[in-house]
Amino acid sequence: MKICCIGAGYVGGPTMAMIALKAPDIEVRVVDMSAARIAAWGSDKLPIYEPGLDEVVRKTRGRNLHFSTDVKGAIQEADIVFVAVNTPTKTYGVGAGRAADLRFIESVARTIAECANGPKIIVEKSTIPVKTAETIKDILAANGRGIKFQVLSNPEFLAEGTAVADLLSPDRVLIGGERTAEGAAAVKVLSGVYARWVPKERIITTNLWSSELSKLVANAFLAQRISSINSISALCEATGADVDEVANAIGMDSRIGPKFLKASVGFGGSCFQKDILNLVYLCEHFGLPEVAAFWEGVVKMNDWQKHRFTVKILAALYNSVADKSIAVLGFAFKKDTNDTRESPAITVCRNLIAEQARVTVYDPKVPAEEIRRDLLGEAESPLLTIAGNAYDAAKGAHALVVLTEWDEFKALDFGRIYEAMSKPAFIFDGRNILDLDKLRKIGFRATGIGK
Ligand code: UDX
Ligand code: UDX
Repeated sequence: MKICCIGAGYVGGPTMAMIALKAPDIEVRVVDMSAARIAAWGSDKLPIYEPGLDEVVRKTRGRNLHFSTDVKGAIQEADIVFVAVNTPTKTYGVGAGRAADLRFIESVARTIAECANGPKIIVEKSTIPVKTAETIKDILAANGRGIKFQVLSNPEFLAEGTAVADLLSPDRVLIGGERTAEGAAAVKVLSGVYARWVPKERIITTNLWSSELSKLVANAFLAQRISSINSISALCEATGADVDEVANAIGMDSRIGPKFLKASVGFGGSCFQKDILNLVYLCEHFGLPEVAAFWEGVVKMNDWQKHRFTVKILAALYNSVADKSIAVLGFAFKKDTNDTRESPAITVCRNLIAEQARVTVYDPKVPAEEIRRDLLGEAESPLLTIAGNAYDAAKGAHALVVLTEWDEFKALDFGRIYEAMSKPAFIFDGRNILDLDKLRKIGFRATGIGK
């Protein structure tokens, strides 16, 4: 069997590497239109940072895992074609700011229709609005050569930073297909790939639309928990309750559970905001404005939390940060990834720079150019500096702001940091990973979220 995957990103790369590892008899070819990305996948420095991924790629690359820019050739050879191109939120026209931009999906479907030389199973891996399979099917059906395609939905539930572990033992693998004999046969083929390492009872099958919608709903529910606890973090600050204590107390109720209750400066990542906005757009489209408003609240709360945190910093620094130095620790949207898409650090740093603060950022894995591009685009600013470590970032700073929960920040020598900073020295922990009482004993003015 031969598999090809179009899109060598955070989803396509790790997923295909795992299939190649667990199914040595399957030839897996990952293709991308970006030659730079493909070159990086073939090098010692993979384009994405993900714990454990280097080893999986080292074992499989050149054996049954191949990276290339030859999209058409890979499609022609493959029995199964995964589509894992990005589906950003539309920035223009109808549905701008909400709907998913499907132009990459459409162009991939056209490429497949154009160059396929026989029947194939097409698997939607990208998160896409419900009924996208219909679009893909329609374009494929118009290939004019009578070639038959089966379109399946197989959303990816891996989280960045734990992708390898999530792929190794997923809570579930979801496969949606058409409820026809041909659809069922295609579902069986794809189930067979996962069944090599995933227990059968964890592979669930549904109709196409249920599968597509489940992905959006899973992310909406997860994000909703974070917005819920973040809304309570504001109430905690007003009342003297401690949000981590509240989260712990409610999380021990087995009906609520402890996960995804960590109050923070806000959620980020490529999925949550995009998928909820997509859900909102769908609800509006189907004439359900109340449902749309309910889910939109989750995103609004997240935006508010990011701004609230900036205002907190401002207020503590006597309502003026112009010309003050602020050290920012962490820029990725969460620990153990180099991904910065929708990272709350972008909003907070931009807000601070807009207030004329001098911002120095340090992140263990995000390259300096990426931080610059995210904050300034092509522009330049004397207000932004990138540091090579936390101690350099803290030198002379009036405040230190933690925006990503990297483990190494917990192990810093805060006595040394205190010495290096301007006094009074402030710490704002946007992830609640530091021991604030201990910091206060050193002399810091320390604040967390919901504290
Ligand atoms: C994925 C899913 O596609 C997205 O829908 C989901 O919500 C998050 O995860 P991700 O893998 O994180 O996206 O995206 P990215 O890292 O941007 O990778 C997409 C890749 O597809 C890029 O390398 C891009 O160059 C490639 N691409 C895009 C193509 O090869 N062809 C195209 O037409 C468009
Ligand atoms: C998410 C989903 O978890 C995954 O199933 C889906 O397939 C893709 O989207 P990801 O975006 O990689 O994964 O990361 P996730 O671990 O879900 O974190 C998202 C954001 O929420 C991060 O910014 C994280 O820091 C934040 N978060 C998470 C909190 O603020 N508090 C929490 O309790 C958990």
